[in-house]
Amino acid sequence: MSSSASSLKIGLGIIGFGTVGQGVWKHLAANKRQMEVRLGVKIELIGVCVRDPDKKREVQIPGTQIHTDPNKIVDDPRVNILCELMGGTTLAGDITLRALRLGKAVITANKALICEHGTKIFEAASKHGGQYFFEASVAGGIPIIKSLREGLVANRFSEIVGIINGTCNYLLTRMEKEGLSYETVLHDARRLGYVEADESLDLDGVDAYHKAVILAFLAHGKWVPRKSTLVEGIRNVTLEDIRRAHDFGYRIKHLAVIRRNFAKGLMTLGVYPALIPLDKVLARVDGVYNGISLTGDVVGTTTLVGRGAGQDATASAVIGDIVDAIRVLKGSAFHFLTQTDLAAYATLGASARMATLEEIHTSFYLRFKLRDKHGVSAEVYRILAEEKISVARVIQYEHAATRQGTHTLSTHPVTEAAMERALRKFRKLRTVLEPPLVLRIFSPEN
Ligand code: NAP
Ligand code: HSE
Repeated sequence: MSSSASSLKIGLGIIGFGTVGQGVWKHLAANKRQMEVRLGVKIELIGVCVRDPDKKREVQIPGTQIHTDPNKIVDDPRVNILCELMGGTTLAGDITLRALRLGKAVITANKALICEHGTKIFEAASKHGGQYFFEASVAGGIPIIKSLREGLVANRFSEIVGIINGTCNYLLTRMEKEGLSYETVLHDARRLGYVEADESLDLDGVDAYHKAVILAFLAHGKWVPRKSTLVEGIRNVTLEDIRRAHDFGYRIKHLAVIRRNFAKGLMTLGVYPALIPLDKVLARVDGVYNGISLTGDVVGTTTLVGRGAGQDATASAVIGDIVDAIRVLKGSAFHFLTQTDLAAYATLGASARMATLEEIHTSFYLRFKLRDKHGVSAEVYRILAEEKISVARVIQYEHAATRQGTHTLSTHPVTEAAMERALRKFRKLRTVLEPPLVLRIFSPEN
């Protein structure tokens, strides 16, 4: 950071100039003067790093500022703030650690990296005097990281439930409202820049898992390993299921659910498509919007809604972090949780044990394709009875032409383990024509 008589110069480096990187510079450049006056600094873009310097880009910057070697930017002494907006975990991790060890401020939208290497990164920042900011990593335009670390810090959270993958929500909403196919809507989501470079991260629930892990860490001080969670995507959800869910009084949303039972010392984390009652606020969060409901012992339930993916919402969060970083660099800001606090956060989670499948109770929706023949549903009910799974509602649809039937039912709460055992038995039934679709039914009580 260099200073002149009138103002400090802040040098910015951007690693990754794709959807998010270009959005950050586009909006920052447009509001730069106003930002500089507010902060009393001069902001200068030192350089950006990309893979392909010849690619046609929406946002133009001089060729001399475009590099392909990230270290050219990381090591440049003029760069005080580094925005890691390239994604991935290997090179992005190396760059992040290198910059933090040089005492720089690093800003990211990279939830996969935090989820995988959060401990190492927070420790490096704490040890070497770097700063790490990651508001853009979860729920784009919703300031959920700040809410957990600052505004809602008085609380112990028994439940955090959210729609935190914009792509899944966009797909499910447009399939439902416009009757469009999964592939058609996915094509639009890609064009709009919502989808990860590796799109299975979105479609298989992994991106939501990464974000849920970050929220769980901030709320409970525990890095939740993948093996202790339920992670499912939306690939198996069909238009038919969306319609059937309506018949039962629900909408299907891809949810992240983090629960903590403080009395029993138990915690659960799951991300999966779930049926959610039509009258819940989250059931009405549509399109690329995200929504997060947090239930704390002091505040009660607070729900935050905003755009969860895309260039502008994500850029808004990154720019907010750039402003925080500048304040810290100026030494003028009281930053609520320091890097040392964040690194030490993990000690808080020691008292929470991840619940086993025998300890997690959920209501389920099941959809079977059955041969249209007497006695076939009796076999399904025999298995449900063996596993002590009690049925709440049943709707059956006949397809006379194909001599098949669709049998849908909802259950009362049962353990995940009992449902897993039942599913193994269903798969062996010759009268069940394809593996049944199983979705969880969200209810605040289970
Ligand atoms: P993107 O459009 O694919 O952009 C990635 C950028 O990184 C591109 O400019 C690419 O260069 C550059 N890059 C990739 N590998 C590189 C390498 N080895 N060396 C140099 N440059 C490299 O991705 P994005 O959507 O902006 O996402 C960036 C990050 O933000 C990811 O961590 C993502 O999870 C996160 N995020 C995205 C969104 C969203 O809505 N898109 C929202 C929140 C968070 P080229 O342009 O030359 O290929
Ligand atoms: N692919 C992510 C999503 C981007 O759809 O939510 C925002 O993190």
